[in-house]
Amino acid sequence: MRPVRKAVLPVAGLGTRVLPGAKNTPKEMLNVVDRPILSYIVAEGRAAGIEHFVFVTGRGKEAIEDYFDHHPELESQLEAKGKLEMLEEIRAELPRPGEMSFVRQMAPLGLGHAVWCARDVIGDEPFAVMLPDMLMDAKVPALKQAVDAYNQVGGNIIAVEPCPPGEAHKYGIVALDGHEGRLNRMTGMVEKPAPGTEPSNLFISGRYILQPEIFKLLAAQQKGAGGEIQLTDAMARLMAVESFHALEYDGVTYDCGDKIGLLRANVAFALKRPDLGAEARAAIMKLL
Ligand code: UTP
Repeated sequence: MRPVRKAVLPVAGLGTRVLPGAKNTPKEMLNVVDRPILSYIVAEGRAAGIEHFVFVTGRGKEAIEDYFDHHPELESQLEAKGKLEMLEEIRAELPRPGEMSFVRQMAPLGLGHAVWCARDVIGDEPFAVMLPDMLMDAKVPALKQAVDAYNQVGGNIIAVEPCPPGEAHKYGIVALDGHEGRLNRMTGMVEKPAPGTEPSNLFISGRYILQPEIFKLLAAQQKGAGGEIQLTDAMARLMAVESFHALEYDGVTYDCGDKIGLLRANVAFALKRPDLGAEARAAIMKLL
């Protein structure tokens, strides 16, 4: 089985749900506690064995590229002031030269279109897609769980989780061929089903392992729900010829593309931090 070495991170969306903060700062660069959301996502990818990250970017997203590069003035200041721990922490996040690629989507036409923009960098091998606004807190990093499932059954893997009752119409929902354990063969999927028509309560939560054949289907550029080129539609077509499994991964997702989701992530991650947790708890309790 060919290994999963590359990940696509689509970051070209406009982030309208987290305006005005995302007007000039890419929403993927908004902070959770003391670092941008993307910092957690890249760490999760590395923990799953990803060797190359392909960011699909757009206008005004330059801060992302700069974050994953040296900042000579800052680094020499930290060195001069003896703040060596922070210097070490900042340098530890830097990629090896050539470990990251940046391609432009040029217009936010939908997630399917964003993934298609990465086709030449991915080439003819299986790859991961990580939606960077979905921050996942899990003992075994969520993408690692997906890669482990891929190593077990091959084909295409989609991480899913139960959605709150009555909210299926907001998400991509999967249909399963029987439901036993956490890894199940899929029979279909639908983007934003009309209320009451959803085939299950499991929504596609932002981590995928896909085969490169998806690019041929995305090339048709068919528009789906919301007038966007949907990844879900191309995956549904790929399912006619390739196997898909849904993995109910073990962990908690925070939708950081949403104001309350971002707030919840900040609280949850601050409370978990060994250096900040006690102080964060005291501060929150005082507010309550
Ligand atoms: P979202 O739908 O959550 O992002 O897409 P958005 O369009 O920025 O959100 P709102 O609704 O306006 O707030 C999930 C991920 O896919 C990327 C986004 O940047 C986000 O990380 N995306 C979405 C693209 O890269 N290109 C697109 O055309 C659409």
